[in-house]
This record gives sequence, C-alpha cells and structure tokens, in this order.
Amino acid sequence: MRNLQKGFLSLVICSSFSVSAFANFTQAPLPYKTNALEPAIDQQTMEIHYGKHHKAYVDNLNAQIKTYPELDKLTVEQIQKQISKYNATVRNNGGGHFNHAFFWESLAPTNKTGKVSPKLLKQITQDFGSFEAFQEQFNQAATSRFGSGWAWLIVNPAGKLEITSTPNQDNPLMDIAEKKGQPLLGLDVWEHAYYLKYQNRRADYTKAFWSVVNWNKVNQRYEHAVK
Ligand SMILES: [Fe+2]
Repeated sequence: MRNLQKGFLSLVICSSFSVSAFANFTQAPLPYKTNALEPAIDQQTMEIHYGKHHKAYVDNLNAQIKTYPELDKLTVEQIQKQISKYNATVRNNGGGHFNHAFFWESLAPTNKTGKVSPKLLKQITQDFGSFEAFQEQFNQAATSRFGSGWAWLIVNPAGKLEITSTPNQDNPLMDIAEKKGQPLLGLDVWEHAYYLKYQNRRADYTKAFWSVVNWNKVNQRYEHAVK
C-alpha cells in the first residue's frame, strides 16, 4: 500500500513537471467581465472568443515547445520578432496568442476608456491630418482586409504613426511583416470576433469598436514606444 502511494506520488510529481515544462504560455484573465463591452461586443462572442479561440492559440503554441524547446525560454513578443525561424503552426498560434492578449487590453468598458492624450492626438493630427481622418483610414484598413486578419495603428521605425493591416494572425512585430512597427492599437476582423452579433456587417462592428477603445492603454503604449 505504501509503495502504491509512493508510486502515485511520483506519478503526480512527474506529471506536474511535464505539464510545466510544456506550458510556458498562459492566458491572463480578461481585465473586465465578458458582458462589460456590451452593446459594442456581446457577451457570448467574448466568452467564445476568449475562452475557446484565444485558449486554443495558447494550447497549440505550448504544444510546439516539443518541436522547438527554445520557445520555453522566450516571451511571446520575442517570438514575433523572429517568427521566420519557425513553422506555420508557431506563426499562426504564436501570432494568435500575442494578438489576442494585446486586443483584450486594447478594449475597456465605455466608462473606463479614458481619452486620447494631448501628445498622441498631436502626433495623430500631424501624421493623418485629423483624428477623424485617422479613424477613417483605420476603418478602411479593417473593412478592406480580405478574409481574416487585423487592422493596426503602429509607430514605425522612423517614429511616425501609420495604419496597416495583416492577414490571418500576423502582426507588425513579426520580422516577416510588410510594414513593421510597434503596435498601439489592434482590431480583430476575423469573423469569430463579430459574426454572432453583426453577421456580415463588419463595418458596423468596426464603428462600434471605437466606443470601447481603451485610450488609457493606447496612450501608455505610445509613451513607451517613443521614449
Ligand atoms: Fe480573434
């Protein structure tokens, strides 16, 4: 009996070691309740998007540590910057993990969004002409992305703001990105992000997104990107 208990204990210890060895990446809890972004983003979409889609990217990325043991020692940001070294599974799921973690933090309930800072607004006006022109260009990038992907506001290597879009789960941090830069704001335009509420009306989803943009976070990212 004692041997049996000992055996069971070793099995538990071994299992927990093997789990931790292949689970470098974890999903941070959502910074608000799943119904907190309504009516712009509905609760059911948030539950499935965070609980199923994002979780699957994290699980699939962790499963790749067996193929690339070095992933266990890298942050998800570091992986993006050298994504060309890895297979399509790491690109899709590593990108998926980074993009979604970034997206949840880019959003806030309408009474907690804050406002665009005077410093960022000045730069937006300088680089796009006006805040409205910036929003229009961003909406255009979001609605015209064919199939699945993302729209982004980035600071490019020259310190200028730019709007770009990426296919699938790519992002502007990736070394293979057409337009590289530090992302400040991202919008998920995969159908899984809006179809339950908006069906084919991506433009309506894009418009509603502006009511839940977490400007406090975007301002902070801008400060960090240009310091
Ligand atoms: Fe998504």
